Parts: sequence; C-alpha cells; structure tokens
Amino acid sequence: MNLNERVLAVEAEIAAASAVGADAAESFRVTMLGRNGKVTVLLDELKQVPPEEKRIWGQRLNQLKHAARLRWEELKATVEALPPVPTGTVDLTRPALREPVGSLHPISLVRQRITGIFSRLGYTVSQGPEVEDDHHNFGALNFPPDHPARDMQDTFFVQGIEGPGAGDGWALRTHTSSVQVRVMEQGKPPIRTISPGRVYRNEAISARAHCMFHQVEGLYVDKDVSFAELKGTLDHFVKTLFGPGSAIRLRPSYFPFTEPSAEVDMSCTLCNGEGCTVCKHSGWVEIMGCGMVDPAVLGNCGIDPAVYSGFAFGMGVERIAQLIYRVPDLRLYWENDVRFLEQFADGAFRS
Ligand code: DAH
Repeated sequence: MNLNERVLAVEAEIAAASAVGADAAESFRVTMLGRNGKVTVLLDELKQVPPEEKRIWGQRLNQLKHAARLRWEELKATVEALPPVPTGTVDLTRPALREPVGSLHPISLVRQRITGIFSRLGYTVSQGPEVEDDHHNFGALNFPPDHPARDMQDTFFVQGIEGPGAGDGWALRTHTSSVQVRVMEQGKPPIRTISPGRVYRNEAISARAHCMFHQVEGLYVDKDVSFAELKGTLDHFVKTLFGPGSAIRLRPSYFPFTEPSAEVDMSCTLCNGEGCTVCKHSGWVEIMGCGMVDPAVLGNCGIDPAVYSGFAFGMGVERIAQLIYRVPDLRLYWENDVRFLEQFADGAFRS
C-alpha cells in the first residue's frame, strides 16, 4: 500500500471507532496516537517524502492527527455519559422500574360500573344519536314550544342538515332523555333500559360546568310500575355503588316529561354527612332527577297510558365520578393530562 492508501485506511478506521467498553477511548488513543500508534507512524514517514511534496503531505497528515484527537475526545465524552457498569453482585430484591400502563378514562370506568349495576337488574343498554331533532329532544318529552331549554342560550343548534327532518331545529342533544323517546317509539313494553351518552349545553366552561358532559338515562315501562319501585331501584343503585351505609332522599321537583317528579340527593360520600364544601355543609348532594313518565309522553311515543305506566331517571356521570374519585374540577376530565389519567390505571381507584 502506498502512503495515500494507508492514510485513507486510517481515516476510515478513525471514523468507524465506537465507544464499546469502558476503556474504548483509551485503547483508541493508544492505537492511533500512542508511540507506535497508526497516526504517529504515518507522521514519521513525512521524513521520507520528497521535498517538493512535503508541504502537501504535512497538511494531510496533520489533518489526520487532528481528526484522531477529535474522535478521541468524542469517545471519552460518550463513555463518561454511560451508566456505571455494576460491580459486585446484582441486587435481585431491587424493585423493577414501573412500566407505564394504559387505563380506561375515569368517566368510562364509572359508566361501566353504572351500566353493570342496572344490567344485573335486567336493564338493556340503548343508544341514540348525539345530533338530535326537536321532536326527540324536546317535543315528545312535553317541552312547550316556548320552554327556556330550547333557547339558543342553552342549546347548540346545528345548521345545514339536509334530508328528512331538515329545518326541524336539529341540535346537539341536551340530555339523554331523547333516547327514552326513541326506545319507546321502537319497542313495546315491558321496557327496561338505560342510555349512557354524551350531552351538550351552551355553558361557559368552569370548575363546575362544561359544555359537554355525560349522562345515564334510565327507563322502566310496564303494567303497574309504581313510584315505590322507582325509589327502591335508586336506593339499590346508590347502595351498590357507594356502599350499604349510603342513603338517598327525594325532593319534589318539576320536569316536563315526568309527573310527579323528584330530585334525588344522596348522603355526601366526602364528609359522611358531616358537612363539607361539596355538599355545601348540608350533608346531601344532588345526583339525579327522576319521576313517573308523564302519561302524555307515553302517548306521544305510541304507548297506551291507560294500560302502562313507567318511571325514568337521569344522572350526570361526571357528578357521580366526582363523588367516587373526589375530583375537584370538571375540567380535569378533558385536559388529558397523563398525570391525572394515570392515577386510574390498574384499577387503583376501583373500590
Ligand atoms: N333530563 C334531565 C336533565 O338533563 C334529567 C332527568 C330528570 C331525566 C328526570 C329523567 C327524569 O329521566 O325523569 O336534567
């Protein structure tokens, strides 16, 4: 090999040197720049180069030496950055690093628990569209035409829908009660169903309100369904979800689609009834609305109110989740901060 070929070979070797092993940098230095190193030997040969070529070879070999030095510095830095090689015996008792585990969203976990309780009571799960027409969201549920819930302030109206029903006031559904109507229109009693889903309201987003949230609607229609059965069902639900020590109370209320109607409170899980900010120091928190399906609503959906009666209820999933997980701010659910979400991995929060 002539000098040129040998310089090229050493150049390639310098570029390919790798930082494997704790002494990688030092052995590179010895091989290249030591007393008998490859670069040192080539530099020595400069003496034998004819005088007219000395300048050009001098430059070339100096560059080679410079490249070797740089590579040595790089190797030293790489080796120093490597984790220390363990010495002595391996500690088998040391806990393993935690693998990141994916998890269901807390709202999904709570929805599953709610539907699980009602499935065991024989309820089916039904669904309806999130973009809903006026009839299913309001009309069939007895909302009078001038009801404030139909106002632009509360409802997101959807424009530009074509085809059947166009111009009928399409909107993002404001509650899952719309699914009741669809189920009753399509089926015959006995009906026992729950309808979990997203709902939308034109609300400013804050710790306590959001423009999108989740509800679970319940509906039971058969002959001789009574208010006592409604109360017993909800009491069973709350005791199953929150433990046998929890209790419910019903307060008279008004909904256009139920008569009589009630608001359901449960004993505050956060302070055990002693009073805290969540229950506003009353010991009770509101968790849902309920009532006997208004006979007019049964009639609107093609079910004879002279033969059948029914009860319905509707609850907010975020609210129930707040009482289970003690989440202080609704916005946390939708910010997708993994530090929040990973707390629900491996069922850590499941009771
Ligand atoms: N739809 C009501 C709401 O969004 C909740 C509700 C109240 C549902 C009473 C019902 C019911 O089925 O009977 O606030």
